[in-house]
Amino acid sequence: MPDVVTALSPAPRARVQAMKEYYPPLGSRDALRLDFNENTLDCSPKVREVLANVAAGALTRYPEREPMEALAAARLGLAADQVVLTNGVDEAIHVLFETFLEAGDELLLPVPTYAMYEVYASATEASAVAVQAADDLRLPFERLIAEITPRTKIIAIANPNSPSGTVATRAQLLELARRAPQAVLFVDEAYFHFHGETVIDLVGALPNLVVARTFSKAYGLAGLRIGVLAGPVELMRWMRRVLSPYSVNSLALVCLPAVFEDEAYLDWYVNEVIAARTEFEAALDAAGVRRWPSRGNFVLLEIGARHAEFVRLMRAAGVLVRDRSSDPGCDGRVRITIGTREQMKQAAVALNQALAALRGQKEMR
Ligand SMILES: Cc1ncc(COP(=O)(O)O)c(C=O)c1O
Repeated sequence: MPDVVTALSPAPRARVQAMKEYYPPLGSRDALRLDFNENTLDCSPKVREVLANVAAGALTRYPEREPMEALAAARLGLAADQVVLTNGVDEAIHVLFETFLEAGDELLLPVPTYAMYEVYASATEASAVAVQAADDLRLPFERLIAEITPRTKIIAIANPNSPSGTVATRAQLLELARRAPQAVLFVDEAYFHFHGETVIDLVGALPNLVVARTFSKAYGLAGLRIGVLAGPVELMRWMRRVLSPYSVNSLALVCLPAVFEDEAYLDWYVNEVIAARTEFEAALDAAGVRRWPSRGNFVLLEIGARHAEFVRLMRAAGVLVRDRSSDPGCDGRVRITIGTREQMKQAAVALNQALAALRGQKEMR
């Protein structure tokens, strides 16, 4: 039956009507997945074993987050009450913004960056102050500092940043936290493993630092939806009020000990990706493609006006990549996730063929 809409149909809040929409292009991904910065292979076999042996009846119970929060906190060198587990970092962002942003507040962020910061901010009464990075896509540190006002309530920094792969230094992050004591400095370390530098050791020591980690990237558990949010006890207490007590599902929780135990698998995967990143960057340089130096499991390339066709040609060759042209300051740019060396050899072949096709077409004109 078709939907009936009348003048009296319930209207959503004005804020929701004005919200930015975000549709991840997840359809038909039966190919080499270099489009979402996921793990391109698998999670640890130990995790699969846990999932295969989930006890009958385990799903009849509500999930209990606390024991696993204590475990995650211990692994991160933090106290249990400094940590909450969330339904991925996306929920962590949502909860953080819902907890702290109200009318008159500002979310300060560099762009381009992870799209969900502005999406979730747009659901609050606060406004976003976006500071455009220069052409090198490095953190626009001085300009961020200059934009701090008494209204700045959250400063969101993805470190490494997506889609650029560029990073903020520890000194820059400390300075941002110091200059805006009335604001939460939110450092999103979703890609931490591929970079190796963190500020999670400063949680609690800085009164306004909140750090996020995810199991969606290096650990290969994007489908399980689990992330960590860490910050001073006082701030975490407010966020626990907003977070659903059951938002992390039982399957994700039951896997966590195995996830942490299998360090060998994590190390192997991360080292494989870092080696593949070096090789793929060399292939891009050899092909004469401009790229930005990346510390994540992805690299941003300059393809130019034919970016959409490039993405289509790559897909036709069985390789999914992500057009980032609509990101601020990213016209003509495409992001490619880094997988294993073998996968990236396949990607390099597809890339060279796609570039040859584009260049050939240009010469014919
Ligand atoms: C910077 C950044 N933060 C968070 C996420 C989402 O993480 P999760 O899967 O834990 O929600 C992504 C995913 O692409 C990301 O790029």
